[in-house]
Amino acid sequence: MHGWGIIGTGDISERVAADLRVVAPDRVRAVWGRRRERADAFAGEFGIPFATERRDELLARAEVDVVYIATPAHTHLEIALEALEAGKHVLIEKPMATSAADIELIFAKAQAVGRFAMEAMWMRFNPLHVDLLERVRGGALGDVRAVRASFGTPFRASGAKLTPAHAGSALRDRGIYAVTLAHWFLGEPEAISATGSLMDGVDIAGHATMEHGDGRFAQLAWSGVEFLDLSAAVSGEQGWITVDPMFWAAQSARVHAGGVERIFVSPEKVEHPRRGNGYRPMLAAVEEAIVEGRLQHPWHDRDATLAVARSMDAMAVQVSS
Ligand SMILES: NC(=O)c1ccc[n+]([C@@H]2O[C@H](COP(=O)([O-])OP(=O)(O)OC[C@H]3O[C@@H](n4cnc5c(N)ncnc54)[C@H](OP(=O)(O)O)[C@@H]3O)[C@@H](O)[C@H]2O)c1
Repeated sequence: MHGWGIIGTGDISERVAADLRVVAPDRVRAVWGRRRERADAFAGEFGIPFATERRDELLARAEVDVVYIATPAHTHLEIALEALEAGKHVLIEKPMATSAADIELIFAKAQAVGRFAMEAMWMRFNPLHVDLLERVRGGALGDVRAVRASFGTPFRASGAKLTPAHAGSALRDRGIYAVTLAHWFLGEPEAISATGSLMDGVDIAGHATMEHGDGRFAQLAWSGVEFLDLSAAVSGEQGWITVDPMFWAAQSARVHAGGVERIFVSPEKVEHPRRGNGYRPMLAAVEEAIVEGRLQHPWHDRDATLAVARSMDAMAVQVSS
């Protein structure tokens, strides 16, 4: 079975490492942090046998087959290429990189070296979303006509994410979940109109409408400076679904479809309680795909990742102009 390496020792690495320890017991083999003391502390906390502040040392280790990259977005391209060049499979935090062009470079390298690559879009593997997608694709709402989703919470008080050096785009950090959700149900848009606010050149809040033809549309919003409603909704000709907050990590939804009573009075409540921190289904799916010899996961592959990145690129241009 595969051995994992973790690159980055921030909050998200902690949450994912706790789940990885369950999915891959005794197979988290190494951790890299840019500060040695922090890497040592992280290794101690999660029982990881090797810690280093030198990435080349981690990438040279034969017992590491797949690396999880959880550093700020602007570093993903360089680190992913290094890891792939070293022959490792890669699971890269969202956003996979800061443009569609850079994401293409990662997938091209993965293809060239015959290694698996995926953006860590854990929402796609959340059992609630898997269930809802199956229902909608099975016709539960009839033809899907609209998606609404917003993700707005104030950034950490330190404001570290509001510096361009941290690629602190609220669109790519938070909006990505809303844009991804809309793409699942409506596909790539025909037209986008977006607007937003900048602080020191960084997009800190915005909203967009995606037009999908024949009147289908998505209304999306993101913010790092205020709260926005954290729920989402998908609606169609025969009803709608509301996904409870926080929609990207939701454990419940209400399906308003299947008859007048269900639509207006007593929607079906769908519940999938989270196990662990919510990353286990994605981590298990990555392991399975690698064991099967796949280079991409069919649920969140190159095309799906790139389509979302193209929409975000278009939004970013409009927000900045
Ligand atoms: N899936 C999720 O639920 C979720 C949640 C939050 C974030 N994320 C994603 O996870 C990624 C990391 O976010 P984060 O908020 O955890 O970032 P972060 O706390 O700023 O940094 C994460 C790690 O990267 C290191 N680091 C910082 N700047 C670096 C640089 N220039 N080069 C190399 N390493 C650097 C940090 O080291 P120090 O400790 O020394 O600063 C830390 O170990 C982002 O892509 C973000 O979108 C995902």
